[in-house]
Amino acid sequence: MDVPVDSDLARVRSFIDEAQRIVVLTGAGISTESGIPDFRGPQGVWTRDPAAEKLSNLQHYMADPDVRRRAWQARLQHEAWDAQPNAGHRALVTLERAGKLDTLITQNIDGLHQRAGSSPARIVEIHGTIHEVVCMQCGERGPMSGALARVRKGELDPACFTCGGILKSATISFGQALVAADLRRADQAARGCDLLFAIGSSLKVFPIAGVVPVAKDADARVVIVNGEATEMDALADAVLHGVLGELLPTLVSGLISTS
Ligand code: APR
Repeated sequence: MDVPVDSDLARVRSFIDEAQRIVVLTGAGISTESGIPDFRGPQGVWTRDPAAEKLSNLQHYMADPDVRRRAWQARLQHEAWDAQPNAGHRALVTLERAGKLDTLITQNIDGLHQRAGSSPARIVEIHGTIHEVVCMQCGERGPMSGALARVRKGELDPACFTCGGILKSATISFGQALVAADLRRADQAARGCDLLFAIGSSLKVFPIAGVVPVAKDADARVVIVNGEATEMDALADAVLHGVLGELLPTLVSGLISTS
């Protein structure tokens, strides 16, 4: 991994100084230092178990009670429950408090950006959240904690109290449509920004990875910050390879909070 030199960091810091409307897209890479594994990195969930990626789609979940029972057991053990925000999340709070952040689009479902202090009103959780459950029949939503309490008491595949439908975490699985309003909001933010950061993402999952070329086509600068190369690096005005928990605080140090 080619570690960025001071001139690369200085160049990206100058981009931040010149920008007024920054959009940030984060991926699982910003949460690994909080103990939540990513998917396609060297120790990623799909890297270690390619078959698991195929199983994590909606039709398997809806069709097979055994897949749901395993999913509920996995939710009980999810690393997000004990995870704390890390320096990378906090760096994005600094960016927001300096008045530079327009929208934070996250592919992560762990809620760590909110826990770090990023304003929920600026966050688009484009792949949903693990902190809520939704009934796949009537759409009723509730806290994940309540559903997990039922699983701990022995309900291995808890059904919706209102209609008896299948309950699922309020995350967007493969085969499931994204929330159209969220996608529109992310697209509009990318079209209106003057600087887009793609942080901790392999940029392999669409449609949301598409905000990178959208921002580029709208004459925004694009900066990719990641532990390894992505297929969109050639699009970027700057690419920083390194550990996010070290790189991001360096990029925002010296920014003055305006709020
Ligand atoms: N510092 C820098 N980069 C890191 C770090 C770190 N501490 N940890 C991981 N990374 C990098 C990995 O090298 C990898 O390139 O973050 C990237 C994470 O990529 P993915 O695992 O593909 O995660 P993401 O891009 O968020 O996946 C998108 O795929 O499985 C679906 O819905 C899921 O939202 C997810 C989507």
